[in-house]
Amino acid sequence: MYVVPKYPRPQGEASAHDRPSSPPRGSGFPDIAPWIAQIRSAIRDDRAAALSQALARSRAAGDFDTPGFFPEERSDRYARRLIWREPDASFVIVAMTWMPGQYSPLHDHDGLWGAEIVVAGAMCETSFRLADVAEGTRYRFVAESERVSEAGALGVVIPPLEYHDFGNQGSRTAHTVHVYAGDLTNCHAFDATGDGWWNARNVTLGYDA
Ligand SMILES: [Fe+2]
Repeated sequence: MYVVPKYPRPQGEASAHDRPSSPPRGSGFPDIAPWIAQIRSAIRDDRAAALSQALARSRAAGDFDTPGFFPEERSDRYARRLIWREPDASFVIVAMTWMPGQYSPLHDHDGLWGAEIVVAGAMCETSFRLADVAEGTRYRFVAESERVSEAGALGVVIPPLEYHDFGNQGSRTAHTVHVYAGDLTNCHAFDATGDGWWNARNVTLGYDA
């Protein structure tokens, strides 16, 4: 899933800690309290299956269909909106909008587990297994699987199986919802060096309005 732009925060963009724990109420957002409670329960029980079920139920109930739930498209990268940050930072819920061809690079999730659901569009995910680390910043990965996920598809990231790239390979805009079991503010992105190895870089994750 989950996790996650994996892009440096544009100058002037609000950081995760500048935003409230809940989205603005009123037009544009459904009553999220019921499904927040389901997600909270799954996180506290450390149960990926329950978290996935909560996301599936929310999609089926139309919780993600409210106009304005997902961020506006961005032409420079995919967009991320913080929907909810639990006050004790035990989890965050993030809505993402992906234009055709927008991908995250290979990345980790800072050791956090989580789950994601495709709400609309067709997403492609390649999962990698970490095979070696050298010099602290050089990583070697082995691609383990690739899959195309359409609306309704669920995915989980559970360390140490937390390395993947993720993107929209369809011809129309895609929407996804991600839950991470912590306040995912930083991660590593990995740049291929062409010799079977990747260079790691630290990435600070920001949110779009
Ligand atoms: Fe991810």
